[in-house]
Amino acid sequence: MKFIVNGRRPLEGSVDVSGAKNAVLPVMAAAMLTSDEVVLEDAPDLLDVTTMCRVLEAMGGRTVRSGHTLRIRVPAVEDIEAPYDLITKMRASIVIMGPVLRRAGRVRIPPPGGCAIGSRPINWHLKGLEALGARISLDHGYLDARAERLRGARIYLDFPSVGATENIMMAAVCAEGTTVLENAAQEPEIVDLANFLNEMGGKIRGAGTNVVHIEGVRSLHGATHSIIPDRVEAGSFILMAAACGGDVLVRNVIPAHLHPLLAKLEEMGTPFCEKDDGIRVRGNGLFRAVDVKTQVHPGFPTDLQAQMLALLTRARGTSVITETVFENRFMHVDELRRMGADISVAGRCATVRGRESLSAAQVTASDLRAGAALILAALTAEGPSEIRNIYHIDRGYEGIELKLRGLGADIRRESRTETIASGLTERGKNLCLLPR
Ligand code: EPZ
Repeated sequence: MKFIVNGRRPLEGSVDVSGAKNAVLPVMAAAMLTSDEVVLEDAPDLLDVTTMCRVLEAMGGRTVRSGHTLRIRVPAVEDIEAPYDLITKMRASIVIMGPVLRRAGRVRIPPPGGCAIGSRPINWHLKGLEALGARISLDHGYLDARAERLRGARIYLDFPSVGATENIMMAAVCAEGTTVLENAAQEPEIVDLANFLNEMGGKIRGAGTNVVHIEGVRSLHGATHSIIPDRVEAGSFILMAAACGGDVLVRNVIPAHLHPLLAKLEEMGTPFCEKDDGIRVRGNGLFRAVDVKTQVHPGFPTDLQAQMLALLTRARGTSVITETVFENRFMHVDELRRMGADISVAGRCATVRGRESLSAAQVTASDLRAGAALILAALTAEGPSEIRNIYHIDRGYEGIELKLRGLGADIRRESRTETIASGLTERGKNLCLLPR
């Protein structure tokens, strides 16, 4: 499956941002903490959400989607072992450890493993759960965690890990006593999860700061919760609008979640304004080079690094991008170079010398945000580009080609049959049919 993109068209109109992938996934895991039904509004229709539904169902849950409303009910945990093929497909599933441990007193899960952007260990997740009373061993390739009781503790995270903060919060919300989590992650998705847990009857204070207080309660009940807008999807569209020029209103955003990005746009000289219902970007596709350093929230988000780097390949001047969160998050650089970008990488720094334009090419997405970066690059390149492995993109962007076509982009998804047919045609050209 691939996207075909014909670039160099300005983007015009408005686009609606979906609910946040990185908020809905931990919130879905939190549904494990009650036998009542939970109702999630603005739940994005993404591959990762479908995978998480499969995980919950494999362990005893039931999920029903109706549009962007997702109903989840886990009457009981029928299987404490998370399915290997699903967990290894999506690292985010590691956050079911805390809820299942709390609900069933035991959970078995394969270590989620790394992916293109880094080794992504889970040591801080395990340290936090052990501090709450879990005993964790490695058994035949599965992490086996047991805890008859979970007791509140004071936990200090060596690094403000998003996933570890989420796992610990969900394990501690019904622990006996109070947990104080220091050096916690402060991402907006952490706040959304804490709000959901409090709507379920939890007593969590300080989410969004680096110290979170969790007063254990006896049980949680069902709740209805609306997922916050996806700041990374919003930022991706804002950067695409800056790259292509035109006049785009990116709707359903929380501007405060985008301030690190908007500050950079200001430095670049890309015209934008905060409207009541979104961010309006009006550009001519010309902008200054800037230096960018990714950091944990409220710094510049690592999840927008690839898209920003792709944009800066066409800036006036030279930019230096430093990736401080993941050790290998420049997988998109080789593909951008194939489109004519002038980039050199040394360790965690990429130096990007801006060029007039990029040329269309056949490129391959290595991960979710690299895929978005390649779309951005293809939208500005002369001629037809092909982007392969777009399942990565479908993991985190709901109908991205439809949203971009709504803005006037020339992008289409080549179906599998078309891909096979074009392959056959390709081979057909080379096959010499023997005379009968
Ligand atoms: C979440 O991943 C997001 N995923 C990522 O988004 C995002 O890039 C990341 O947070 C940082 O903001 C979801 O929320 C589903 P971390 P997570 O734990 O929780 C290291 C996207 O594109 N680390 O904050 O896995 C880790 O290797 C995805 O939407 C340990 O060493 O991120 C990384 O270098 C990509 N030990 C750094 O910390 C641990 O126990 C940050 O990881 C945990 C993490």
